[in-house]
Amino acid sequence: MSVVAATGLSKRFVRGTEAVTALDAVDLAVEGGEVVALVGPSGSGKSTLLAVLCGWETPDAGTLRVGPGTDPRGLGWSDLALVPQALGLVPELSLADNVLLPARLGRPAAGEDPAERARRLVDGFAIAHLADRYPHQASLGEQQRAAVARALVLRPALLLADEPTAHQDRGHADALLDAVLDAADSGTAVLLATHDEVAWSRADRVLSMRDGRLLPGPPS
Ligand SMILES: Nc1ncnc2c1ncn2[C@@H]1O[C@H](COP(=O)(O)OP(=O)(O)OP(=O)(O)O)[C@@H](O)[C@H]1O
Ligand SMILES: [Mg+2]
Repeated sequence: MSVVAATGLSKRFVRGTEAVTALDAVDLAVEGGEVVALVGPSGSGKSTLLAVLCGWETPDAGTLRVGPGTDPRGLGWSDLALVPQALGLVPELSLADNVLLPARLGRPAAGEDPAERARRLVDGFAIAHLADRYPHQASLGEQQRAAVARALVLRPALLLADEPTAHQDRGHADALLDAVLDAADSGTAVLLATHDEVAWSRADRVLSMRDGRLLPGPPS
């Protein structure tokens, strides 16, 4: 059974006389262990799709199932982990505490010590030396790597990552992609909104968004 399944998802934003169809009858299913890259121009609806899938936005139409239920808002970090485009680190917590936050709130993967998993991730992302810094004391790329480590620390059933390599050089981007693919190897379903063509090439499947519509394959 797919980890996330959506049919006919639509979302319009209306402000005064202006209306934008951000999602237009989107059908999507992602299986456990599958890496799906979501590509498309700025404003095409990628972040809106992720926001609907995680429950931040309510769709106007369509059906949604994430894990066992239809309301993703009740899910914990081991079921659904997010790397928001704006990262969403907790400013009052150190980078180390941000990365460990899901482990404090949620259920670690069987047989895995989340503190050890966090150490491996931050080592691999070259941010171990920044453990005690607060987010505002780290570069944007470093903050983004902490946000990805936080999302991966519990090996979630579903990872929704919004341009997770946007603030990285190639080497750090590749380290992030390695870790995301490793999580997929252990069963995580991954949906990755990304402008990074290396990420597309490493995904199992590429989907394109254009004006709120989701189409199979990379953009033509
Ligand atoms: N809260 C909102 N109110 C009104 N319009 C919105 C809102 N959020 C997004 N939109 C509009 O919906 C469309 C899709 O936006 P979205 O953020 O999903 O695009 P995106 O593909 O993620 O773009 P980018 O690559 O720049 O991140 C855009 O036209 C955007 O202006
Ligand atoms: Mg976006």
